[in-house]
Amino acid sequence: MSDDRHPIGVIGTGYVGLVTAAGFAQLGSDVHCVDIDADKIARLEAGEIPIYEPGLAEMVAANRARLHFSTDISDALAHARLLFVAVGTPPTYSGDADLTAVRAVVDAVPALSTRSERQRHALVMKSTVPVGTGASIKRVLAEQGKQGLGYVSCPEFLKEGTAVEDFLNPDRVVVGDDGGWAGDAVVDLYAPLDAALVRTDIASAEMVKLASNAFLATKISFINEIANVCEETGADVIEVARGMGLDDRIGQKFLQAGIGFGGSCFPKDVSALKQLAGNSGYHFQLLNAVIEVNELQKRRVISKLQKHLGSLVGRTICLLGLAFKPNTDDMREASSLVLSARLQADGAKVRVYDPIAEEEARRLIRGVHFASDALDAIDGADAVVLVTEWREFVDLDWNDVASRMAGKLVLDGRNALDRATIAAAGLTYEGIGRGTLTCLG
Ligand SMILES: NC(=O)c1ccc[n+]([C@@H]2O[C@H](COP(=O)([O-])OP(=O)(O)OC[C@H]3O[C@@H](n4cnc5c(N)ncnc54)[C@H](O)[C@@H]3O)[C@@H](O)[C@H]2O)c1
Repeated sequence: MSDDRHPIGVIGTGYVGLVTAAGFAQLGSDVHCVDIDADKIARLEAGEIPIYEPGLAEMVAANRARLHFSTDISDALAHARLLFVAVGTPPTYSGDADLTAVRAVVDAVPALSTRSERQRHALVMKSTVPVGTGASIKRVLAEQGKQGLGYVSCPEFLKEGTAVEDFLNPDRVVVGDDGGWAGDAVVDLYAPLDAALVRTDIASAEMVKLASNAFLATKISFINEIANVCEETGADVIEVARGMGLDDRIGQKFLQAGIGFGGSCFPKDVSALKQLAGNSGYHFQLLNAVIEVNELQKRRVISKLQKHLGSLVGRTICLLGLAFKPNTDDMREASSLVLSARLQADGAKVRVYDPIAEEEARRLIRGVHFASDALDAIDGADAVVLVTEWREFVDLDWNDVASRMAGKLVLDGRNALDRATIAAAGLTYEGIGRGTLTCLG
């Protein structure tokens, strides 16, 4: 790639920030990364990658000479015109987005002394924020005497687990601004990726992100409700989804029924959009249902277990997978958090295993047995629940599993397992929206 690209700054070195930084370094920019977490910066300086994301360590290592790490935003400002903001925007108790970290970044930008200096810098918002945040930040900047500092909304669409690939091959790049050099500079930065460009105003760019996540979450809750009706009526949701998805107005993606969506984005972004609508006087009825269906879906696992085992008191339940999805260590809003708590509340003994997320899970889940591998977790279990469809669980030797279990029930929370193989091993298979398959032999 070219080596004459402008340096950039990235504020916040989490999943989005670090991938963005490594990605732009790969495209030829010097990238000045800033985080308030001094420990994280020290680890990055030492060549350690604090998160699990396939391909990220390699990309950081390959571009190490172009990546600079600091806890001081002035270091980024001294070198870069564009400061990408990728700090967290977690939910508050009310479900609104918590903009504390975003505000802290705005406040931390020093008042640039000369007019020409101010007009050479801009904030580029990667964090997911409510519509209106850009306009409000521009007002705050003016109040703080930092007017002239540019502002661009450039929401991020990468997916954990495939984030590096998504950075390099985005479906689209959305750039929202009021016109001017900063928006053009962001478009130039992304030009080598040859992605579809949506150049629009700030509010619309902010809404593209929230609406996209809310739509995907709606698709998941929709297919989960279809799955629940399939269970009552004898249809198989996998066949139904296949038949639906071949209609190119619908598409195959996000039609996998399961035990609900989690993660750092969908739950909080759906609820942030619902709150945003409410705060603006509009009752977003559909999103209430999307959220409620998702909560109930996680809990249906408990009633399925009770249907097969009766009371769960004293029963041993194995949860395979803890991360909110495979190929990540992210535990935010993972279904395993609700399940492990509910099972223990119902008197069950819970054994768990995750190949990557255990360290993070140990901080969040108490009272369970963390097993050393999948077969250890399964040992003596009355039921095994597939919570996260890591490849190694899909590839388990089910005869081996059967010989280790005390009971026979395998509850496939992601419809990822081969039910015929499981039944052939003498186990009882139950998925989501597909009925029960028991070995008759
Ligand atoms: N994770 C995803 O898959 C994903 C995808 C698209 C968009 N987003 C959005 O991107 C944003 C970041 O998400 P994430 O998952 O990368 O978060 P994260 O929690 O992994 O990382 C945020 C980082 O920002 C740092 N930080 C907090 N306050 C700071 C400050 N004042 N100055 C400098 N650094 C600060 C934190 O220490 C942390 O390292 C969120 O708004 C999220 O909704 C996330």
